Parts: sequence; structure tokens; C-alpha cells
Amino acid sequence: MTKSKLNAGKTARITDVLGKRSIVLIGLMGAGKTTIGRRLAVAMSLPFVDADNAIEDAAGMTIAEVFEHHGEAHFRDGERKVIARLLNNGPQVLSTGGGAYMDEQTRQSLAGTGITVWLRADLDLLIDRTARRNTRPLLKNDPRGTLRRLIDERHPTYGLADITVDSRDVPHELMVTEILERLTEFLFASASPMSNSQ
Ligand code: S3P
Repeated sequence: MTKSKLNAGKTARITDVLGKRSIVLIGLMGAGKTTIGRRLAVAMSLPFVDADNAIEDAAGMTIAEVFEHHGEAHFRDGERKVIARLLNNGPQVLSTGGGAYMDEQTRQSLAGTGITVWLRADLDLLIDRTARRNTRPLLKNDPRGTLRRLIDERHPTYGLADITVDSRDVPHELMVTEILERLTEFLFASASPMSNSQ
């Protein structure tokens, strides 16, 4: 069987039990949330939504401009509200900005409405990926030092996610397949042998 046919079987089972919940990608800047999320959504025939884009639409300016004109606290307020609103639109694949999951209220909103997938990546990968774009206000100065600090600060909280997948420089299709496998394990782990047997 081809890989996409295998994935089709997995995604049908997942979407059956997903209901209105969103699959929510979390992790640091450069972990691949948008790139992988977009492909995961295609594989699952679900809409893909990028929370950072939705924040920019709501604000009528780029994230860098929000930081510059209104500060980070204002950005975090907007981020919390936008994500709470987007979570009403599931099922979907929702990619969130790196700081979103650090907000306790957002984690609470996610508890019933989303399945969280942490794309965990090491420092060198994050440096490599974030160096390709200079649009991130937090990485304007000393990106390596900043990312190292954010790894220390955020990884313990990201570890609360429902699922953790190691983001690597492998074909995107492989990452998608791995996420689908973990979602299947997560969603069906508690099912009894009887319910698996039909
Ligand atoms: C941020 C990550 C960014 C964006 C903002 C702040 C963070 O999103 O939300 O610049 O605090 O980690 P990405 O993780 O999509 O780059």
C-alpha cells in the first residue's frame, strides 16, 4: 500500500473521533508548525489556520508592528482572544505562535477544544530555520541566546501537550505520518479491545 493510502486510513479513523476539536500545533519559532501544519491539514482534508496570520488580520498590521507600536503585552492579549475565537471553528489544524501555549488561559481553553501537538526541535535546527526570515521581533538581537533561553523557559510547559513529536530535517511527509501515528495512539489508547475489533 502506498504511504498516502496508509495515511488515508489513519486520517479517516482520526477525523471520526475528533468531533469539533482542533489539532493544535505548538512549539518554538522555527519548529515547523506552519509548514507541517499545512501539510497535515491537506492529509486530513481539514482547513488549516495560522493563528499569527489571524492576529495580523485582526490588528490590521504585522506582528512586528504590533510589538513595535503596542508592546508584547498587548500582542499577548490579542493572541489569547484570537485563539479563543478560532477554537470555535474546529475541526481544523491550527498552528499557533511560539508564545501562545505559555498563556495559562489559552491552555485552559485548549483543554476541551484541541489536541495539542508539540513539535520539539533542538537549538541548531531552530537557529537554522529562523535565520531564513527576519520578521520575528523576539529574534532581532542575539537569536541564538534568545532561543536558548526560550528553550529553557518554555520546554517544560510545552511538555504538557497531549503529543510530542521531534521535528527534524526529514521529508515533510514523514513528519505528517509520524504525527498521524501519534494522534492515533493518543485517541485510541484508551479504547477497549472490543471497540477496536470492529
Ligand atoms: C513568538 C512567536 C511567533 C509570533 C511572535 C512571538 C514567540 O510565532 O507569534 O513573533 O513568542 O515565540 P512563530 O512561532 O510562528 O514564529
